[in-house]
Amino acid sequence: MSKVTVVGAGNVGATCANVLAHADLVRDVVLLDIKGDFAKGKALDSWQQAPIDSYSTRLTGTDNYADTADSDIVVITAGIPRRPGMSRDDLIATNAKIVSSVTKSIMEHSKNPIIIVVSNPLDVMTYAAYTASGLDKSRVFGMAGILDTARYRAFLATALDVSPKDIQAMLLGGHGDTMVPLPRYTTVAGIPVTELISDKDLDAIVQRTKKGGGELVGLMGTSAWYAPGAAAAQMVGAIIRDEHRIFPCCSLLTGEYGLKDIFLGVPVKLGKNGIHEVLELKLNSDEMKLMNTSADHVKKVIEVYHSLA
Ligand code: NAI
Ligand code: 2OP
Repeated sequence: MSKVTVVGAGNVGATCANVLAHADLVRDVVLLDIKGDFAKGKALDSWQQAPIDSYSTRLTGTDNYADTADSDIVVITAGIPRRPGMSRDDLIATNAKIVSSVTKSIMEHSKNPIIIVVSNPLDVMTYAAYTASGLDKSRVFGMAGILDTARYRAFLATALDVSPKDIQAMLLGGHGDTMVPLPRYTTVAGIPVTELISDKDLDAIVQRTKKGGGELVGLMGTSAWYAPGAAAAQMVGAIIRDEHRIFPCCSLLTGEYGLKDIFLGVPVKLGKNGIHEVLELKLNSDEMKLMNTSADHVKKVIEVYHSLA
């Protein structure tokens, strides 16, 4: 695999392209944005970093889809981000049009790409890209769970004063305040996290994680980009290296967890063909209830999406 396109050269897209270049995984990263020469500037700046940081990946910027031809992987970050007071769902009317049209343009120039969606509201924008692409469900999925577990892991690392490297965690559900972090599937160097932290402190971290995106919007006036861009790049890396890594990703469910016709965060095995497998955890009744609440929320946003058509 040799070509990755990132659509949207804003905060998340440019960060993702820059992290990818630093990983030196692919020959070409194309950055595309609707805003004239904006992507050209971002790509040129990143390419001029190559001699300093020592990578060979060529970054090019464009506003022309012909330059994305034969992309192996496409990361879609195009769209508007949240501002203070907005929820991710408030972005739907604008971003649904953008994500659908971007996907169609991509498909005119690449036959069978893998598409990773980042634009919000994530679960429904992934659904929109899947519908517009006509690709197999294994090749269209969304980034959210890696970011949400990263926030959870970072908060735990601070509370326990340990390296975030040693914290493993899983999280399910939609990318919103109904997401479902799973303490039962959280370990610190193999030790169940519940042996190291009180229920009260752990619950406070779970609640902070659920609102982690909003916390950053409050601090910065727009949404986050370093961790989101790196999370999308990590997914690209797992595909290019065919790593079969287990990540929480937003995937189409076809009966798993008792749910179908919905894109939702679940553990998947990620490799060269995209999603090789959706892993079904044996949830207890409390966890299943939270998962269903999250699914119900996403279903309501899907209804809004259908009403826009
Ligand atoms: P940004 O405003 O910095 O960048 C978005 C870029 O998309 C802009 O440069 C804009 O010109 C471009 N764009 C808009 N319409 C386009 C089109 N039709 N074709 C090509 N480019 C187009 O926004 P930021 O911070 O990069 O966020 C991008 C999206 O990612 C937002 O929807 C945000 O909510 C979402 N997001 C999702 C996360 C997740 O976990 N899934 C995490 C962080 C952000
Ligand atoms: C985030 O969680 C806004 O979805 C974006 O930072």
